[in-house]
Amino acid sequence: MSLPLLVDCDTGIDDAIALSYLAARGDVEIRGIVSTAGNVEVAAVHRNNLLLAQLLGIAAPISCGAEAPLAQELMTADDTHGPQGLGHAALPAPRRRADPRSGAQLWVDIAREHPGEVVGLVLGPHTNLALALEIEPELPGLLKRLHIMGGAIHHRGNTGPTSEWNVAVDPEAAQRVLAAFSAAPTRPVLGALEATETVRFTQSTLERFEALAAGTGHPVAAILADALRWYFEFHQADGLGWIAHVHDPLVAAHAVTGDFASTRPLAVDVELAGTLTRGQTVGDELGRWGRPPNVDLLTEVRADAFVEHLLGVLERGLST
Ligand code: RIB
Ligand code: CA
Repeated sequence: MSLPLLVDCDTGIDDAIALSYLAARGDVEIRGIVSTAGNVEVAAVHRNNLLLAQLLGIAAPISCGAEAPLAQELMTADDTHGPQGLGHAALPAPRRRADPRSGAQLWVDIAREHPGEVVGLVLGPHTNLALALEIEPELPGLLKRLHIMGGAIHHRGNTGPTSEWNVAVDPEAAQRVLAAFSAAPTRPVLGALEATETVRFTQSTLERFEALAAGTGHPVAAILADALRWYFEFHQADGLGWIAHVHDPLVAAHAVTGDFASTRPLAVDVELAGTLTRGQTVGDELGRWGRPPNVDLLTEVRADAFVEHLLGVLERGLST
């Protein structure tokens, strides 16, 4: 039985690895992809999604999201993901055609088609999911579950001192999504930096990606290897060493398998007014707000087992 997924991503290097992993599994049915502005501008994200879907054989509709966040100028991370979002990878123009609907409308239509069936996976800013909630306020009840890569609860930020990228790009959208999904049948699963930064690619991981590209000639394997080399160079330049923190694939793998991490309930909200802390995701460990938990936070990550699992799925899936 395939798991129906809608993937909303700002493809980017780790988004691309996550999409490739999901396509390589064989037990996931991607019902739709929403291109969200973040790592790079939405046009580049969209080109990346169209090209990856074409090369991975993903037949789902792919819709372009909004050009800018709800209430602030778009910031992009060309240094982190490269000017086109996939590092050093050579990117031919995609032949895949886009779905003409907006990203927000695609969220709503796919959820309405089969109420309660589709799992939502947000790997970028929450802009288009927030816009989808304006079209369909009942969206939380129309999805089976929502999984989010975002936030940093008891962990330094990677964008501001206390903010994580996907939330920092569009704090208003993140706040609206968490508020709206507080009423969802099941709490969203939140993969924050304290979980995703336990996943560290090393030189040997990079070499496996390069061996996969050399050994199979699969165009996506080549794209991932070339993209990942840029990502290592960024981490080294950022003082983190010759490694890569790869965030999105862990959240994607947990969404599909329920494995590689535990969860714990927590009430979480987003700071919008903080001079120094705008975009911070705040967790209320002691219940000071008097609100019930609204997320299931990923904890206790089995990072090494996950990396081995990820490489195994990609090596099997991209070798055929
Ligand atoms: O903070 C990490 C997140 O921001 C990841 O989803 C990465 O792709 C970027 O979007
Ligand atoms: Ca992302």
